[in-house]
Amino acid sequence: MSTIAPHGGRLINRLVPPEERDEMRRQAAGFRQIHLNRRQLSDLDLIGIGALSPLEGFMGRGDYERVVDEMRLASGLPWSIPVTLAVEEGQAASLAVGEQLGLVDGHGELRGLLELQEKFSYDKKREAHEVYRTTEDAHPGVQALYAQGEVLLAGPIRLLEGPHYSAYDPYHLTPEETRQAFTDRGWPTVVGFQTRNPVHRAHEYIQKCALEMLDGLLLHPLVGETKQDDIPPETRMRCYQVLLDGYYPKDRVMLSVLPAAMRYAGPREAIFHALIRKNYGCTHFIVGRDHAGVGNYYGTFDAHTIFRNFAREELGITPLFFDHAFYCRSCQGMATTKTCPHGPEERVSLSGTKVREMLLRVELPPAEYTRQEVAQVLLQWANTDQYRI
Ligand code: ADX
Repeated sequence: MSTIAPHGGRLINRLVPPEERDEMRRQAAGFRQIHLNRRQLSDLDLIGIGALSPLEGFMGRGDYERVVDEMRLASGLPWSIPVTLAVEEGQAASLAVGEQLGLVDGHGELRGLLELQEKFSYDKKREAHEVYRTTEDAHPGVQALYAQGEVLLAGPIRLLEGPHYSAYDPYHLTPEETRQAFTDRGWPTVVGFQTRNPVHRAHEYIQKCALEMLDGLLLHPLVGETKQDDIPPETRMRCYQVLLDGYYPKDRVMLSVLPAAMRYAGPREAIFHALIRKNYGCTHFIVGRDHAGVGNYYGTFDAHTIFRNFAREELGITPLFFDHAFYCRSCQGMATTKTCPHGPEERVSLSGTKVREMLLRVELPPAEYTRQEVAQVLLQWANTDQYRI
């Protein structure tokens, strides 16, 4: 199996075995129900398949407080983002500690169970300030936090079935499956790549720099909820498919989806993303410029410096830090300021907003910025009514 232990030492599996599902559904028919939104369902999925090991459920107060204040679980293990289940006060008041609850999705379909061990109130402003480093509700993560209920429900969960969205077949691997796949392929070292944007040449450059030194690359686009103006995951996956077909060695790269929601918590989310990829069996993790950032809330390299809060061995996974990458016309290739002596006027580097504006004008982003096969996929998407900007 994989050379790296899961976070906390044991890969959690809260999936109900197939032969027990019917019985579980029958029992749950008598339980009170909690309706989960998309973000909460993503967390449920991640806990269930072990992506958030050592978490076995939604956090209780002990873990929550220490994560917010110190980026550690109550046990002392590093952990940077609260994973909680918020409900409205009225609903919380009607629930008794000790009872089993059915967790249902937007269609009322049973997705899992929660053994309610604790319910507690919390300070949203404090969480926003500590975790997101801002209390402004213009920040999408803070906005979601402010919109959620006032009471947190905690306890271990069971997940009825692993996440399975046919749109991502065959790219839906659980941590157990990626770990097995790395072993099967004979990859002692694997670098994980988190992404929520369409792949461009700077992404490709840092991925390939890492691949020069390691055995395998796990491309792991996040496909849960993102903010309204981010490009949808199905399109991003198509971009990866065309890129992999033309430009990546098939025996050294794996594509699989991460069914997580984006928090846009910048540096704290970089730690979270790294720990998740450790659970998937990655030994290394790429952290580039403004990782998981949004607007101007974080410094370009805050997501690098935050790693200094932890000893290497307590994280286990090794971060690979990359400077801002760009195409340099004088070098005639991709580079960063670490490797290129030329000035900013020589660099081709576009913001996501700039690219979206070009697509709207039915203009292809330049080949120095993105491979033309990828640009074509984006242009095709921009010309359909899916374009929501
Ligand atoms: S993120 O929200 O998932 O971080 P994105 O998909 O754009 O957004 O980035 C994926 C990874 O690539 C992150 O580690 C990010 O820091 C890195 N990255 C993106 N663009 C660049 C760039 N031009 N130079 C260096 N690193 C980059």
